[in-house]
Amino acid sequence: MMMRVRQEGEAPLKVALLGSGTVGTHVAKLILEHGDDFAARIGRPLELVGIAVRDLSRTRDDLPPELFTDDPQALVTRDDIDIVIELIGGIEPAKQLILTAIDHGASVVTANKALLAAHGAEIFTAAERVGVDVYYEAAVAGAIPIVRPLRESLVGDSIRTVMGIVNGTTNYILDKMTTERTDYQAALVQAQELGYAEADPTADVEGLDAGAKAALLASLAFHTRVDSNQVPTEGITHIVQDDIRAAHEVGCVVKLLAIADRLDDSQISVRVHPALIPLGHPLASVSGAYNAIFVEAEAAGRLMFLGPGAGGEPTASAVTGDLVTVARNRVRGVAGPDQTNYNNLAVAEMGAVQTRYFLRFRVVDEPGVLAAIATILARHGISVQTVLQTPATGAGPLAAASAELSLMTHVATEANLVACLGELNANPKLRSDVRFLRVEGM
Ligand code: HSE
Repeated sequence: MMMRVRQEGEAPLKVALLGSGTVGTHVAKLILEHGDDFAARIGRPLELVGIAVRDLSRTRDDLPPELFTDDPQALVTRDDIDIVIELIGGIEPAKQLILTAIDHGASVVTANKALLAAHGAEIFTAAERVGVDVYYEAAVAGAIPIVRPLRESLVGDSIRTVMGIVNGTTNYILDKMTTERTDYQAALVQAQELGYAEADPTADVEGLDAGAKAALLASLAFHTRVDSNQVPTEGITHIVQDDIRAAHEVGCVVKLLAIADRLDDSQISVRVHPALIPLGHPLASVSGAYNAIFVEAEAAGRLMFLGPGAGGEPTASAVTGDLVTVARNRVRGVAGPDQTNYNNLAVAEMGAVQTRYFLRFRVVDEPGVLAAIATILARHGISVQTVLQTPATGAGPLAAASAELSLMTHVATEANLVACLGELNANPKLRSDVRFLRVEGM
């Protein structure tokens, strides 16, 4: 057996860090504080040679001031840099900096989901051409190991479904709405006060952040390149307290889910939307700002990955895990596994999705109405599993004569559901529009 013996005095691997926000600061500290351990695990020491920041005047007392520069270009064009850690986020200048670093022979560690989900093909192709690594464990679900498990541990299996709570902000909001019966706006304000939600929460609450993560997870799980623009996303801004209450009445909770599943031999579905899941499902009890990813594979069965999906220190753990792995690869003169896209499966339109639906609306409370509604559903191939009727609350003559219907359907096709909703909403016996939520995990 050949064994690699560490040479005394081997030159350190040079590391450049781009960005020194919450995650970047923790990454720099971990590199500086755990230098000996990292050197022992890698087989060579790491040397942090520079930290590029936008504003040099901001004080960062606990990190050596001589490391800071406001010239990231100068760092990534150095030919002696082994690993560039990109934690700037966004598309530009991150994309150009990463491509330049790769061109200069550096491996890359990044947490940039938006960039990889939109321009991954270009970045991975450049890395393969040069023979360097691009690792991105921190881009999906913070500290939770899920990229490497899908890329390596489960690569001998066939994935059927990846379904996750991959956005902590929206999980926090929905959890507050469920446990404290607050409305959406009050829960959002609390999330902002705690620093989960940004001042402009659009990327989180509209599902865009989760959409990018869904694209990355689907690409890995199904060996098919999926871009974020192929992922239909629906956020949580329309969820009201009555949805949460009605879901509870049928034994479910509402969660924002990123879903990637195999529809058939040639197609996958990748999507983000709020959904009802049964209280007994492993994802139902994921509370607060936590993330979790549920994976179902042919041989492995059902797996669940759970943990902190954001935050400086947890995300820094994923970044430094990649850093050590990439450094080990460099010491051995190899690159890690490439992204494999050989399956080239089609990403289905939302209309092709098949799931159960939970419909809720008010109707005139008189004989024959339920039968008329069931007939409309049947005309669109939608079969009802359960019906719950409650007297409508509220004041006025409409409430007095109407009832709320909650219907759980059997599995139906989204295109049929949409057509059915058009007909239901036009029906004079309805006293409100139909609210619908998808149902997963049943
Ligand atoms: N804003 C994200 C969340 C973390 O709330 O989970 C970064 O993707």
